[in-house]
Amino acid sequence: MPYFVVLGKNEKQAIKSMPGINRYSVENLLKEIAEIKKYGVTKVLLFGVPKSKSEDACDAYNKNGIVQNAIRAIKKEFKSITVITDVCLCAYTTHGHCRIMESKRKIDNKATLEALAKIAVSHAVAGADVVSPSAMMKGQVKAIRQALDKNGYKKVEIMAYSAKFASNFYGPFREAANSAPAYGDRTGYQLNTADTKGAMQSIRKEIKEGAAIVMIKPALSYLDIIFQAKKEVRIPLAAYNVSGEYSMLKNGGGEDLSLVMEVLTSIKRAGADLIITYFGKEVGKYLTHHG
Ligand code: PBG
Ligand code: ZN
Repeated sequence: MPYFVVLGKNEKQAIKSMPGINRYSVENLLKEIAEIKKYGVTKVLLFGVPKSKSEDACDAYNKNGIVQNAIRAIKKEFKSITVITDVCLCAYTTHGHCRIMESKRKIDNKATLEALAKIAVSHAVAGADVVSPSAMMKGQVKAIRQALDKNGYKKVEIMAYSAKFASNFYGPFREAANSAPAYGDRTGYQLNTADTKGAMQSIRKEIKEGAAIVMIKPALSYLDIIFQAKKEVRIPLAAYNVSGEYSMLKNGGGEDLSLVMEVLTSIKRAGADLIITYFGKEVGKYLTHHG
């Protein structure tokens, strides 16, 4: 179950484009997690929505940053919850790109990899079980794996967003995380929808670099990629049923969850071992009643 975490006290901010999903401050997040735990949901994926943005995204590795605080609070209260964190820069950079930019056209590769590694280590220090780089930056898994190992976090695993397509289905997320790029788009670093070969290459490469789980994202328009990857990949495969898919299904499915179950079953059938979905809580509740 993905969560958006914000600073402040007693915050529960509705996200217009994602009915039923809110941004929570830490104490309200803990209440939510207590609830999903009752329904058998045991893994959460955290996204920080920070107050301050900068060119170097330094708030993303602040040891008292929003995500770091949330990790510590969750781990203190719920030992059995697996805490996974998104590792990216886009919610923390002034320009909203997943990179550190030298200029509007030029990415600073070295600084970007260093920042991603620092974020991952700061999450590990706070107690994260799994870190999940989503920047589609070449070498991101290797850089993070090395930094984690060097700092004594060999047990912290990497779930890599390896096959991340430049998708129209991320719109609601960008409202939720306030992370829309201020100029340009992400087609320079996310995969083209038609690029099956690129997706498979990226998956193979990030496994070699040390990913313990690889992810395909979005899920629904990419079920064939999941199916193909499953035939080849020996490690767990995750599929991200993204924000736009959530909004679409939410608007089309009515109160009954059977439409959502049909869709999630198709993702499972295609080969996903893990599904990241904003329906996590509702589905958990549904399954505790319907088995
Ligand atoms: C950022 C990131 C995105 C999502 C997860 N991590 C959005 C993007 O690339 O703009 C999308 C998740 C969703 O739509 O639910 N690197
Ligand atoms: Zn990003």
